[in-house]
Amino acid sequence: MISVSEKSIVVLISGNGSNLQALIDAQSQRLFNGKIKAVISNKPNVYGLERAEMANIDAVCVDHTEFNDKAGFEAELVKTIDAYQPDLVILAGFMRILSSDLVQHYLGKIINIHPSLLPKYKGLHTHRQVLENGDKEHGTSVHFVTAELDGGPIIAQRRVKVDENDTEQTLVEKIQQQEHQLYPEVVAWFCAEKLTFKLSEDSAAARAVFDGKVL
Ligand code: GAR
Repeated sequence: MISVSEKSIVVLISGNGSNLQALIDAQSQRLFNGKIKAVISNKPNVYGLERAEMANIDAVCVDHTEFNDKAGFEAELVKTIDAYQPDLVILAGFMRILSSDLVQHYLGKIINIHPSLLPKYKGLHTHRQVLENGDKEHGTSVHFVTAELDGGPIIAQRRVKVDENDTEQTLVEKIQQQEHQLYPEVVAWFCAEKLTFKLSEDSAAARAVFDGKVL
């Protein structure tokens, strides 16, 4: 049997970090063959950084407001991430749009979770749009990150029913409950090297591949 080495992981956050917590819990239950080496936030004093510290994980802030421009912020961000030599970079509620240069640097090893059934509702306020449009279902998507905002190849999705009484807050809760199960699962596939990113040679189209099959 070919053994797969433990993967180094860096998680990027901007806030509460409930998805980060789900990953920390999954790691301590050995649900994936990886180790979170650092948690990096673009905002100071967020609860996600405290969660990292409580789990004895390096918690670093690269505050985007301290830089004159996006290029300066991203240069420091990349330097900070690369110091941990990650095999996988996980965006978990990281609310900055990344430049195509940065995405290219991590292409195939950077994933994001987005609270909608992509390609529906890219960007912000997904729950509000679901309610305004009277959608009967909603969900969350994990995808590889490419230069197109929320547009990279989808790896997996979870669906929830939207009820008449739902509000933005109840949808957040329903969606996050699904996210906390889904994200560790996807990370486990990646760490087991079952999940890969494939850029086709004839076009710019990228695909997520699981066990040799295009998703
Ligand atoms: C999550 O629901 C995630 O899907 C969303 O932010 C929340 C972060 O919550 N991400 C995006 O909207 C990215 N476009 P958390 O900080 O409690 O994990």
